[in-house]
Amino acid sequence: MTAVGQLRSVVAGVGSYLPERVLTNAELASMVDTSDEWIVQRTGIRERHIAAPGETTSMLGERAARAALADAGLRPEDIDLVIVGTSTPDYTFPSTATQIQAALGIFHGVAFDLQAVCSGFVFALATADKFLRSGSHKRALVIGAETFSRIIDWTDRTTCVLFGDGAGAVVLEARASDGSMAERGVLTTHLRSDGRHRAKLHVDGGPSSTGTVGHLRMEGKEVFRFAVGMVTDVVKDAFAATGVTPGELRWFVPHQANRRIIDMSAAKLGIGPEKIVATVHLHGNTSAASIPLALSVARRDGRIERGDLVMLEAVGGGFTWGSALIRW
Ligand code: UT7
Repeated sequence: MTAVGQLRSVVAGVGSYLPERVLTNAELASMVDTSDEWIVQRTGIRERHIAAPGETTSMLGERAARAALADAGLRPEDIDLVIVGTSTPDYTFPSTATQIQAALGIFHGVAFDLQAVCSGFVFALATADKFLRSGSHKRALVIGAETFSRIIDWTDRTTCVLFGDGAGAVVLEARASDGSMAERGVLTTHLRSDGRHRAKLHVDGGPSSTGTVGHLRMEGKEVFRFAVGMVTDVVKDAFAATGVTPGELRWFVPHQANRRIIDMSAAKLGIGPEKIVATVHLHGNTSAASIPLALSVARRDGRIERGDLVMLEAVGGGFTWGSALIRW
């Protein structure tokens, strides 16, 4: 049925930015008691990028945003909503989003950060989608930007081999829609959280607790145990809400934390391995940046094409988890 005045959030462009410095597994093996073999076998990660001294999350986010705007053929002033998913803001306040807004020369509309750790991009996308479909805003920059290297304990081999820095962004545009699943845009989003699991993945500092920035701490095995179940639940929610089947998906673009989690989730969902977009070997876990980074790579190399059905999913500290199904 055609709903008069219905709006849909359509992806108009995507872009990303990675810091120049590449940190290899071999280099890490000279810093802590680890090996390339262990890291590759347990995680699939081969290298990651690390921000230069003085290179902040907002700087990475601005570069990614400019790339997404160029891809969309739009100017900064066309944007009236900026949402940044990040857990590594430049400052406690103001938000990284307002820093990026100013750096882009956008002096209207609204910009704010959203904190859902590795699920940050999916949460930001879902939030932007709701703003755009309400008619309150017309074009959004949805950015995932992180400098996890700044909250890593570089003496802890159980975490320091896993993470990297980077940023990715998409431009979403509100367009009139007849509501059909065949039309482009965000088709459905599903967000969840459960705060009881804080201790399994957290940072041991903050302004109101210790007055310090703190370091990332993780019970990796425990996170792994929960991750596959959470991911498959929200992806199934997306299938149920739309009637789309795993066979109809063109691409599965999961949060890039660990290749084993990605492969196990896809197998459990009946999504063929040929549909997985994986960049974890090159980027490590870049938290909220990982999905838009992967989208950007797969768009640039021609894999994701207009009209493709693309499933995003993520799980992160909190726990938080979510999915988004997009007709690209
Ligand atoms: O965005 C969500 C964020 N987090 C995740 O998705 C992480 C989920 N968890 C994981 O990816 C995995 O649990 C890890 C990759 C973190 C660890 O893999 P695992 O297979 O669960 O290993 P484990 O923690 O059970 O450790 C196995 C062994 C231990 O030694 P012992 O006790 O068996 O002697 C560790 O001390 O591997 C040791 N180990 C390492 N050895 C070499 C832990 N880290 C390292 C390391 N290099 N970097």
